[in-house]
Amino acid sequence: MYILGIDTSCDDTAAAVIEDGKRILSSIVSNQESVHKEYGGIVPELASRRHIEMIWPVTEEALRVAGVRLSDLSGIAVCHGPGLIGSLLVGCSFAKAICYSGGIPLIPVNHIEGHIFSSFLNEDGSVLDIEFPYLALIVSGGHTSLYRVDGFGLYKELGRTRDDAAGEAYDKVSKLLSLGYPGGPIIDNLSRYGRPDAISFPRAYLPGSLDFSFSGLKTAVRFEVQRTLAMNPWNSVVSRDSEYIRDLAASFQAAVIDVIVKKVELALDKEGLDIVAVSGGVGANSLLRKELAELVSRRGGRLFMPPLKYCTDNAAMIALAGYHNYVRGMVAGPNLNPVACLPLGEA
Ligand code: KG4
Ligand code: ZN
Repeated sequence: MYILGIDTSCDDTAAAVIEDGKRILSSIVSNQESVHKEYGGIVPELASRRHIEMIWPVTEEALRVAGVRLSDLSGIAVCHGPGLIGSLLVGCSFAKAICYSGGIPLIPVNHIEGHIFSSFLNEDGSVLDIEFPYLALIVSGGHTSLYRVDGFGLYKELGRTRDDAAGEAYDKVSKLLSLGYPGGPIIDNLSRYGRPDAISFPRAYLPGSLDFSFSGLKTAVRFEVQRTLAMNPWNSVVSRDSEYIRDLAASFQAAVIDVIVKKVELALDKEGLDIVAVSGGVGANSLLRKELAELVSRRGGRLFMPPLKYCTDNAAMIALAGYHNYVRGMVAGPNLNPVACLPLGEA
């Protein structure tokens, strides 16, 4: 059984084919970084236009690499939210049109649901056995959430960010320091050469809650830079190559990752879980990967972290979640519409 997955929720146009829910035959992602780079963040209108240009070439390539024709498909799984409404509209309209014209079942997938299962994808495209229950940590440019996952379709949100997502904080701090976009990999890389304890940034632990908050940290970085510039008006201390920027990057990163890892530990304790599955672009972060590995091994638990290509947005995860939705009988009609804020579990 072949399922085609499609994701256009944000700034990546992605299509993938999965066979029997067990093997990813192709996963094509057309990245829009070059389109948005000069703006230091995603421009929604430009993202939708680029999706329109890329959706067919990307889908055609996914089918070609998989060696599958449209008529071989048992279903098309499409992400219909959450995300940027204009971007989602492109993927949904495209999938609906093909399903309608080819008589192919249309399978709705929540973007977060895709991330929840992407942790079980291997580099070679094989899918690991999924063990329930587990704690899913989704950390991306749009989301920072913790879910308890008891089975396919059985998700309980334990916590979420109250303001910025972790990746958004990385991107905004990078923009503030004129380091470039996306900020996550740049700050992660600079941090390797800086001291994480050089600057003491606040950590919003929000006692008694598994929620996150990163906007205060972002403001603290802004004040720190303003103060340093005021004290050094004639010198280029705030430049990409300075020791100060490396220390600032490492200290900021430590503040973000400390909180995330602490919340994961609290969630494991509270829910009595010992398996952690990570996904989302920030899941590529070197410090997060190292600290989570240490935490889980200390507790004798298990950690599932996908290779980098499945951490960030992709359609393999949509195809995988779509396969399981399909076998559970979840198909949609032509009235399926994209929803910008789509809570998990509401199709
Ligand atoms: O999952 P993703 O591709 O898209 C969203 O759904 O948002 O995640 C993109 C986000 C960006 O904010 C980017 O800065 C961040 O993931 N990111 C990282 C790293 N690589 C990507 N953040 C921290 N460290 C990284 N190594
Ligand atoms: Zn995502």
